[in-house]
Amino acid sequence: MHGCCLIEPQSSGDEMPEIHVVQRDNRHLYESYFDPYFRLRHDIYVKQRKWMALDRPDGREIDQFDTEDTVYLFCLDGGQLIGAMRAVPTLSPTLMSEIFPYLSIRGPIHRSDVYELSRIFVIPERRGEHAGPRIEMLLLTAIMEYGISIGLTGFSIVLESWWLPRFERCGWKAHPLGLPQMIDGMSVLAVLVDCDETTWKSLCGQIGLTNPALTWQGLTGVNRQILPDISLLHSPAVQPAR
Ligand code: COA
Repeated sequence: MHGCCLIEPQSSGDEMPEIHVVQRDNRHLYESYFDPYFRLRHDIYVKQRKWMALDRPDGREIDQFDTEDTVYLFCLDGGQLIGAMRAVPTLSPTLMSEIFPYLSIRGPIHRSDVYELSRIFVIPERRGEHAGPRIEMLLLTAIMEYGISIGLTGFSIVLESWWLPRFERCGWKAHPLGLPQMIDGMSVLAVLVDCDETTWKSLCGQIGLTNPALTWQGLTGVNRQILPDISLLHSPAVQPAR
């Protein structure tokens, strides 16, 4: 399932998993992860969640939003892919603009400072962990770090409404863009989430991070903003209420 990897694992099972930014400029370093990644997506979204519209005969869940502009966060533990998330610039076609435009009353968002998030997952055996920050919380923290690093102000998301109380509990500020609609038996809505330093620092405090979480391997060319100092955030690793 995991394939071989070009990335030298920097953490063992006892340490915090790494979150790698993977995009056009460094994708070649992560090429061996992509086939397992798309197969995991198929296992999770088609086989487990039964989102049959995503089914493909080759067992790899890939869609029109997996493009050269797409940014992936890969969560790696000892070199194993254990979770991921996808971010698409909203100046490009997005789920909201192409598939669900009716979910946003004022129309889909097309802004250079907003990326659309989708396909967040954690492999089943690493969900709901309590012996350290949950992988899902780590991904939510890491994408906020990514956003402020490159100057984003928000994330648009088409999501199931069960996410809203989860966002509320962890401090993500989600503003609905329209009313929820029933789609394939799911209550789905579009939101715009604030991407700001305050939210990132709060998330870092909740999971006990005192250093930025992202690995930007091979991305020295990316123009990044200086992040606020979080080294003095030393509140104990608090798990958000579930
Ligand atoms: N429907 C409703 N609630 C759900 C849910 C679903 N499909 N999946 C998760 N939740 C909620 C529930 O409240 C659940 O609590 P429960 O165990 O009491 O039911 C809670 O989230 C915790 O979820 P859990 O799966 O234990 O793991 P997690 O918090 O570590 O990870 C996800 C959450 C969403 C990352 C993980 O469940 C996952 O990878 N799911 C498959 C991919 C997916 O559906 N992603 C979202 C759409 S892109």
